[in-house]
Amino acid sequence: MKALVLSGGLGTRLRPFTHSMAKQLVPVANKPVLQHCLENIRQIGVEEVGVVVGDRAADIRAAIGDGSDLGLRVTYIHQEQPLGLAHCVQVAQDFLGDDDFVMYLGDNVLADGITAAAATFEQRRPDAQLLVVKVPDPRQYGVAVIDRDHVVRALAEKPAVPRSDLAIVGVYFFTAAIHDAVRDLRPSARGELEITDALQVMVDGGKLVTAEEYTGYWKDTGSADELLECNRALLERITPAVHGDVDAESTTFGTVVVEAGAVVTRSRLVGPLVVGAGSVITGSYLGPSTSVGNGCVVTDSHVEDSILLEGSDVNGVRELRGSIIGRWARVSATGEQHSLVIGDHASAEVAA
Ligand code: DAU
Repeated sequence: MKALVLSGGLGTRLRPFTHSMAKQLVPVANKPVLQHCLENIRQIGVEEVGVVVGDRAADIRAAIGDGSDLGLRVTYIHQEQPLGLAHCVQVAQDFLGDDDFVMYLGDNVLADGITAAAATFEQRRPDAQLLVVKVPDPRQYGVAVIDRDHVVRALAEKPAVPRSDLAIVGVYFFTAAIHDAVRDLRPSARGELEITDALQVMVDGGKLVTAEEYTGYWKDTGSADELLECNRALLERITPAVHGDVDAESTTFGTVVVEAGAVVTRSRLVGPLVVGAGSVITGSYLGPSTSVGNGCVVTDSHVEDSILLEGSDVNGVRELRGSIIGRWARVSATGEQHSLVIGDHASAEVAA
């Protein structure tokens, strides 16, 4: 089996971060979302991975390289324009050949892995297998209607009136039968070649398409709130490890990771929390549910339920919660007034 990881697209809902980085490289629990995807793929024993890239190809290559650090062999497949998930299968056809493959959307987080799903696919051998999750409002997802045997009867992409409450997760197991189904698709109302439509072609053509309910934690990291939620979920699964330097005046509580080269002085660290390599934390309260990236500086501040990206600097800020601070951004206290220099499409909520 091979893997096809989709890492093109635009990521407009994750602005301002996606003005300067690929959405799949935004970190949760201090690792790019894409790396979490690739680790799950490696865990099911797949080594041969095609990564579909678009405008941000150079950044993705710089982050993942040839995949050998993760035990993978990565081939990059260029998609000229983000014309849809089924278009990705079309452009990857030479790479995929006639092999089975798992298609993994590079912005989806499945915190509990995909081993059970892979095993079911191997046992049952359908022509395609989806994963679905019951959600209260499935209108922003693909939606599947299934019968008691897990056989998919109908699918729709982001329907205004969903026919079930089963959202389609961004991990699909395919046999080579998918190639016939993507060949003659027409663009949907939103102008994309939809994988959901290709699956409907398979169902209509008598192919066996099944759906398994994913019982672990799943999130599509499309928005800032979703990223913070993912961060919380992934931090709950980390293993404590203190490699950095934590002084005697500091205390730690709960699951805390302090990476090598980080220096923590006169601070309280409350897990689940990750402090990235080379960060300097002084006189501060950090955590819970906080990821501090590499090379950050946090001084005399209180930070909870937040993600600080690489190189950011927080100084003298009493209550920072539910925040995502971009790379090399600086937040500092100035007394009574607010002085903000924030980039395009950023959002800031200040105390009234
Ligand atoms: O997250 C699950 C949902 O993902 C499913 O429920 C939907 O059925 C499926 O269509 C998809 O919907 P999204 O609107 O969330 O897909 P999005 O445009 O965000 O693209 C998903 C990933 O694929 C993302 O990492 C970007 C990448 N991509 C997307 C397109 C359209 C590409 O690499 N190329 C593309 O042409």
